[in-house]
Amino acid sequence: MTYDDIDVTRPAERVCHIRINRPEVRNALRTQTLTEIADALAVAAADETVGAVVISGDSKAFAAGADIREMAGLGAIGVWQSGRPAQWQRIADFEKPLIGAVNGYCLGGGCELALACDLLIAGDDAVFGQPEIKLGILPGGGGTQRLIRAVGKAFAMQMVLSGMRVDAATAERRGLVAETVPADQALPRALEVAADIAGNAPLALAAAKKALNQAFETPLSAGLDFERQCLALLSASEDRNEGIAAFLEKRKPVFRGR
Ligand code: CAA
Repeated sequence: MTYDDIDVTRPAERVCHIRINRPEVRNALRTQTLTEIADALAVAAADETVGAVVISGDSKAFAAGADIREMAGLGAIGVWQSGRPAQWQRIADFEKPLIGAVNGYCLGGGCELALACDLLIAGDDAVFGQPEIKLGILPGGGGTQRLIRAVGKAFAMQMVLSGMRVDAATAERRGLVAETVPADQALPRALEVAADIAGNAPLALAAAKKALNQAFETPLSAGLDFERQCLALLSASEDRNEGIAAFLEKRKPVFRGR
């Protein structure tokens, strides 16, 4: 598949890297960009040799939000019919681990894309924010719902209602980011984390991601029930037998996604 707004590479075994490539507009996410990201994730989902995906921008910006020029041309019906919600849903539905490597501006829709990742590695130059309120709108790519789940009510309210910017250290302290590293280490560290994760059993990874995300969707009892069902299901997998055998035989497991 060929893309205009992203580059897709395979920098390490079982790891796919999607780089947003619109530096002239700080990687603003026009609808085509979101669609290409969702398309690349669909390709990665179907590829058994991909265990995890890293998404990044460049040194100046992860992504500076929705493309404001594109937005300016859309009225209410245009926004309603833009197809963006469907692309956001395709990204959220990706079943393999998705790791964001964040440098520079991570604003608006860019911050929402980061929130749609499973975990974030941020450079110490990263700047997070939901500045939509300053444009007379609100986050529309899941920001109000995912941010509050990530950082809690008080800080999410402060971020969304003020449009304030948040530095990497604060983002880490607030639970938005898993790790903060020197700016030039964000992508290498994210690739390293992805390679480590991608070495685990694919079915267990998919089940664990789904079970963790259930915590945001269901009451505790239903989430615990789902977790138990996943465990029972995984107990029927070849990879579970391989994992246990490898432990007992003191060797590295060879997982096959079955
Ligand atoms: N959309 C379109 N173009 C953008 C853009 C965006 N979100 N962000 C930056 N650009 C463009 C600028 O217009 C500029 O283009 P020109 O060279 O043609 O003038 C170019 O990128 C470089 O931008 P700056 O000169 O402003 O670069 P900077 O380094 O001084 O500042 C910035 C960078 C802080 C990210 C600043 O550009 C900025 O504030 N951008 C907008 C951030 C924003 O408001 N994002 C929210 C968008 S709305 C949203 O996301 C909607 C939603 O969820 C529903």
